[in-house]
Amino acid sequence: MSAATIAPPTTNKHLIRWVDKMADLCQPDRVQWIDGSQAEYDALCNLLVEAGTFTRLNQQLWPGCFYARSAPNDVARVEDRTFICSLSKDSAGPTNNWEDPFVMRRKLKSLFRGCMKGRTMYVLAYSMGPIGSPMSQIGVQLTDSAYAVVNMRIMARIGAPVLAEIDKDTKRVVPCMHTVGAPLAPGQHDVPWPCNDQKYIVHFPETREIWSYGSGYGGNALLGKKCFALRIASNIARDEGWMAEHMLIVGVESPTGEKTYVAAAFPSACGKTNFAMMIPPKGFEGWKVWTVGDDIAWIKPDKEGHLRAINPEAGFFGVAPGTSAKTNPNAMATLARNSIFTNVALTPEGGVWWEGMTDEPPAECLDWRGQPWTPAIAKETGRTAAHPNGRFTSPASQCPSIDPAWEDPTGVPISAIIFGGRRPTTMPLVYQAFNWSSGVYIGATMGSETTAAAGAPVGTVRRDPMAMLPFCGYHMGDYFRHWLKMQRELASTPRVFHVNWFRRDENGKFLWPGFGENMRVLCWIIDRVRGRAQGKETPIGWTPYFEDIRWQGLDFPRATFDTLQTVDRAQWRREIMGHEELFLMLHDHLSSEMIYERELLICRL
Ligand code: GTP
Ligand code: SPV
Ligand code: MN
Repeated sequence: MSAATIAPPTTNKHLIRWVDKMADLCQPDRVQWIDGSQAEYDALCNLLVEAGTFTRLNQQLWPGCFYARSAPNDVARVEDRTFICSLSKDSAGPTNNWEDPFVMRRKLKSLFRGCMKGRTMYVLAYSMGPIGSPMSQIGVQLTDSAYAVVNMRIMARIGAPVLAEIDKDTKRVVPCMHTVGAPLAPGQHDVPWPCNDQKYIVHFPETREIWSYGSGYGGNALLGKKCFALRIASNIARDEGWMAEHMLIVGVESPTGEKTYVAAAFPSACGKTNFAMMIPPKGFEGWKVWTVGDDIAWIKPDKEGHLRAINPEAGFFGVAPGTSAKTNPNAMATLARNSIFTNVALTPEGGVWWEGMTDEPPAECLDWRGQPWTPAIAKETGRTAAHPNGRFTSPASQCPSIDPAWEDPTGVPISAIIFGGRRPTTMPLVYQAFNWSSGVYIGATMGSETTAAAGAPVGTVRRDPMAMLPFCGYHMGDYFRHWLKMQRELASTPRVFHVNWFRRDENGKFLWPGFGENMRVLCWIIDRVRGRAQGKETPIGWTPYFEDIRWQGLDFPRATFDTLQTVDRAQWRREIMGHEELFLMLHDHLSSEMIYERELLICRL
């Protein structure tokens, strides 16, 4: 192989041979092994500035921060271009796109042949989870995107320490191929955001491989995140008896120092980051919410049969629009330095801005496409300055509320699991499942209004089981079975809840103030877990009495609370029809417990 000149910083022959083989396939001009150092990061950022991908922000205002604009056809995950290529179509199930692995391999080989011409192939070793933790997993991403490398340095543990782990040869390494799919002819000028109209985000669950073609954005390109930590990891977890979930993890500390950890699954852009960084509202002096993770949880039973969770990531890839000092001060403090902003607006002072960041928009700025934007233009054309899926990439260690145990190799104990989605109707503010299997049913039948994170039409309710619809790497029916089976490994199951911050009144206004006020709901959940609060039995589960919510510091009308908690039988009958639709699709893999739970629900209603 001609491209490599420096000896690889690993003794692992399999890895070296694979890198050679892939370099032969992709034909990059250079191969660069990533060590993960600050100097290397700075050099790559400089390279990105020279290439026009990055703009260095005003370092007085935004120290260590960079700004990027993607191509307008590369702004979000591409669910219709995401494939699970298991040997049998049945293993992928009806909720995933499937292609025969042999056919797909042939296709990928032809797409990847020569795809890195004129570019550097970076060899990026990364660990999902703290290096050396028994719960961590290792991947190596080969990529021609320096943007992906610098983002991955924030989002995962990378480089030399991971290569040292690989050299110990104790863990299987997941090979991850990534190209933006834009080879350069000799002398051809590069564009700031190379990508390809054709996109393939492909997973081979049996061989534990990822191949991503044509995109440089987010979950399509930072392969440790959705591709590995959810789609591949959900397969590993099923085989090994643990869970890979689209969940935030928080610890709640009471004024007496009692600490309770909960995990919560909300679909993309439905408030995980906000919830994970919650600041307790007025009336909760002495309470503290600690952040462990904002997007992904790996949850495993310990020797005593209690669930413990780690956050496999090291950073936040958070939705920028709507993030402000009012809605999420912890996020604002986290992203204030050493962060990368993609597809938000650039202000004349060399700062960033997005809708909802401040009450007053800047008088002028360049929008996420690089075009002049003013409030007047916005009013006239309806164009937003930031793309709705514009994001910040920031180190978790900078978060003021980061939990002291966030890197504990054994994880944190999980006492409750919360499901939730964007539901304008039907779903109460909060209710508790009667038991584990009714909880699994609630998660399995979760619905939510679609958001901009998926690159599809926004605003219709779709079923999104456990917020994993785009992320479960195998048959959804088998995934429900796995959830049910987990109970057998456990001495005690976490209590299961469903929340909805998004119920609206007849004028379309949110009935619940949300954000920090969600603490009141979280406290009821913890009081239930600790056996302190009452629950009122309803057909769908246990709900709080008005008196059981801590209202101090908020004058909230009892009537509005009653409206929020309403279980409307007509709406619920329609809701169950929606469950039926999902169950029909999954019927041949659906466990009888799920059918039984639905029958019970129908009877209670
Ligand atoms: P991914 O990173 O895509 O997985 O999403 P996420 O779940 O972390 O989303 P995030 O926390 O960034 O959600 C952002 C959106 O949810 C913004 O539009 C917020 O305004 C909205 N949001 C978050 N919490 C609340 C809430 O309590 N009430 C209301 N009404 N909106 C909320
Ligand atoms: C999501 O869409 O759920 C995200 C963003 O967390 S991305 O990593 O792009 O998938
Ligand atoms: Mn997510």
